[in-house]
Amino acid sequence: MKASMSEGAAALSVEGLVKRFGKRKALRGISFRVEGGDFIGLLGPNGAGKTTTIKILTGLIKPTEGGVRYYGRDFAAHPREAKRFIGMVPQQSNLDRDLTAYENLYLHTILHGIPKPARKERIEEALEFAGLTEYRDRQVKTFSGGMRRRLVIVRALLHEPRILFLDEPTVGLDPQIRRTLWDLILKVNQVKGTAILLTTHYIEEAEKLCGRVLIINKGRIIAEGPPDDLKREIGRYVLEIFLEDRIEEEFFPSRDEALERLKECDHSCKVREVTLEDVFLRLTGRRINV
Ligand SMILES: Nc1ncnc2c1ncn2[C@@H]1O[C@H](COP(=O)(O)OP(=O)(O)O)[C@@H](O)[C@H]1O
Ligand SMILES: [Mg+2]
Repeated sequence: MKASMSEGAAALSVEGLVKRFGKRKALRGISFRVEGGDFIGLLGPNGAGKTTTIKILTGLIKPTEGGVRYYGRDFAAHPREAKRFIGMVPQQSNLDRDLTAYENLYLHTILHGIPKPARKERIEEALEFAGLTEYRDRQVKTFSGGMRRRLVIVRALLHEPRILFLDEPTVGLDPQIRRTLWDLILKVNQVKGTAILLTTHYIEEAEKLCGRVLIINKGRIIAEGPPDDLKREIGRYVLEIFLEDRIEEEFFPSRDEALERLKECDHSCKVREVTLEDVFLRLTGRRINV
């Protein structure tokens, strides 16, 4: 442990973040903690405040109120020190299209002050980790969307951060490519032990990847916990009853109980497992993805 990090403090603690853009309140008091090695998802609909939160946590914008601490040290007072601990994968891949994969990574090692003798090895390891070694000398403009995302992820790891932020890392990708990115992000967490905080509006992404989910809506965290616990709170199975003008839902702790009820149902009915979408709908009265 470095002397600058206080023992026992959370890797990241966020306390009462408020962000106003003029009259609009994008964040209305966001608080949570990230411990070393966590995998956390910030799940919510468009406009909920996910990108604003990530931008504050990575120092791109300042909060109107509230505080952020990395390993117990105030981020606003010690931004440079904290930035060594954090890596950022923005929503838009900001690669230089005319440079090769290797050159893009090399630029990052310069910007992050990685000593010259260490650069080559770090870059080669990063290319290997992303499965891009054979494409190292190709210009990024020849890369597919999935390859670019993989490159941006390993670029954010070159300075060996302890927390990696990813803002909607798989948005707009087709399902198969999305899965290869999930594998890579899981590998970062499990093999390197890097804590992950990703934002998403994809239910499946949050359920499959995250150990803990923070559900965000209109600038507030409205529920928090492991996906299974959040689902269990409303029931594991749902009976959907297709009425003429709407779908009614009834929740049950087990499939058997849901099926019992199905037998006595006069309408067209279906039993399925509860998802985080149901949790969100219960809490807000609307869907995450409309
Ligand atoms: N620079 C800005 N100026 C004004 N309003 C903004 C700005 N950035 C974000 N907002 C508003 O703040 C809210 C949260 O936005 P954002 O954090 O981007 O949501 P998300 O990433 O969850 O889709 C939205 O209502 C958005 O329109
Ligand atoms: Mg966003």
